[in-house]
Amino acid sequence: MTIRSDAYIDGKWRSAAARFDVLNPATQEVIARVPDLGAGETEEAVAAAHRAWPAWAAKTAKERAQVLRAWYDLMMADIDRLARLITMEGGKPLAEAKGEAAYGASFAEWFGEEAKRAYGRTIPTTTASRRYVTLKQPIGVCAAVTPWNFPMAMITRKAAPALAAGCTMVLKPPSQTPLTALALVELAERAGVPAGVFSVVTTKSHTGAVGKVFCESPLVRKFTFTGSTEIGKKLGAACVGSTVKRVSLELGGNAPLIVLADADLDKAVKGAIASKFRNAGQTCVCANRILVEDAIYDEFSKKLADAVSKLKVGDGQAEGVEIGPLIDKHAIEKVEAMVGEALASGAVALTGGKKHAAGAQFYTPTVLANVTRDMRVNTEEIFGPVAPLIRFKSEDEAIAIANDTEYGLAGYFFSRDVNRCWRVAEKLEYGMVSINEGVFSNEVIPFGGMKESGLGREGGVEGLEEYLETKFMNFGGF
Ligand code: SIN
Repeated sequence: MTIRSDAYIDGKWRSAAARFDVLNPATQEVIARVPDLGAGETEEAVAAAHRAWPAWAAKTAKERAQVLRAWYDLMMADIDRLARLITMEGGKPLAEAKGEAAYGASFAEWFGEEAKRAYGRTIPTTTASRRYVTLKQPIGVCAAVTPWNFPMAMITRKAAPALAAGCTMVLKPPSQTPLTALALVELAERAGVPAGVFSVVTTKSHTGAVGKVFCESPLVRKFTFTGSTEIGKKLGAACVGSTVKRVSLELGGNAPLIVLADADLDKAVKGAIASKFRNAGQTCVCANRILVEDAIYDEFSKKLADAVSKLKVGDGQAEGVEIGPLIDKHAIEKVEAMVGEALASGAVALTGGKKHAAGAQFYTPTVLANVTRDMRVNTEEIFGPVAPLIRFKSEDEAIAIANDTEYGLAGYFFSRDVNRCWRVAEKLEYGMVSINEGVFSNEVIPFGGMKESGLGREGGVEGLEEYLETKFMNFGGF
């Protein structure tokens, strides 16, 4: 399998003496060594993006759409290699990685088409001698910082709308998973993306020199970030404080999954597993805590624990594996600490509750009963394969527990009562609410959160708007 391991700036592959290791989280083996670049190379990439912008923006939406379509076709033709890369550096099971690769590619298809519909408006005039119109124009150079939990899809969810709108982009992929990013830019080059339009700057540091250039450069007009709320707040503030950049932030979550007594319990178990254990619990929209109505608590928890105890744990490259490793040492330590604290405070492990024998970074899929609201597994994002169960007695109490968090990304609930479904969905303070289903992500929906889960939306028609300026024009003197 070809693995690209150099950075890509202004249409050229860039090596460097200083390099860092990319590890397979299942085995801790070194897969590749990638350039550890800094401020100088980032400034070069930003300058190249600035030079490339006018010609790229001047292409018609249809011309850009053709390039994006070619990129989509190349990604789909190379889906097996992309999926293997995602699994090797990110750890998720191969079947899930293949799903991510198709999901990732779909953004190029969707936004290429959508850019042809970047309509402005004519506004009825207030004065007979004037005419009012609005025009949609690309923002300009965009800088992106993406996370390791979706090494492909979180890149295309930003790069595809940016390029479709006529912007250019410099990307910093995470140090844990830069190889998928480099494979994507290789395919983008083959699809006809011109030099400078899409560069990838690799670096070991999370928010160091590269991030500083992104936030402070006057040439960068838009910054887009997916990652933790803590870092997103700092980077967002720096972007606004420096040159008042447009900012999109897709940040942390603490998703509740509510099982009401009238739910179809088998469906709820299936949905809870799909949501909680996707990527071993390492997604921002994973159900973080499961709220269960008193009347069905015992039955539901038994069914869930039985199903979770059967999940197959191992190296994501092996056949049939459903739960891969956690991304690194810090991740496994955090999960161990959170579960340890919960058990010490009275929670009970119905299954799991400890590390898994498959290797240093594997955690046994866990269901915790008797969880209380003060425990960290309820108040903080776990980012691991641990399902804490919290008991509630009424719909109002469930909504109150669900909304009692600074986060507002995704929320889920299960009920067979259609009136209740509307009522609960309207009351949940979340940017995305999924009813009777544990997974909902795709390219046509607006993905994003309320409260401290972020700013802006990715995907859908809203995702293109994030890369467009609305210019108002007054035609006077009629
Ligand atoms: C995320 O974890 O931020 C992305 C999850 C998704 O797109 O479904």
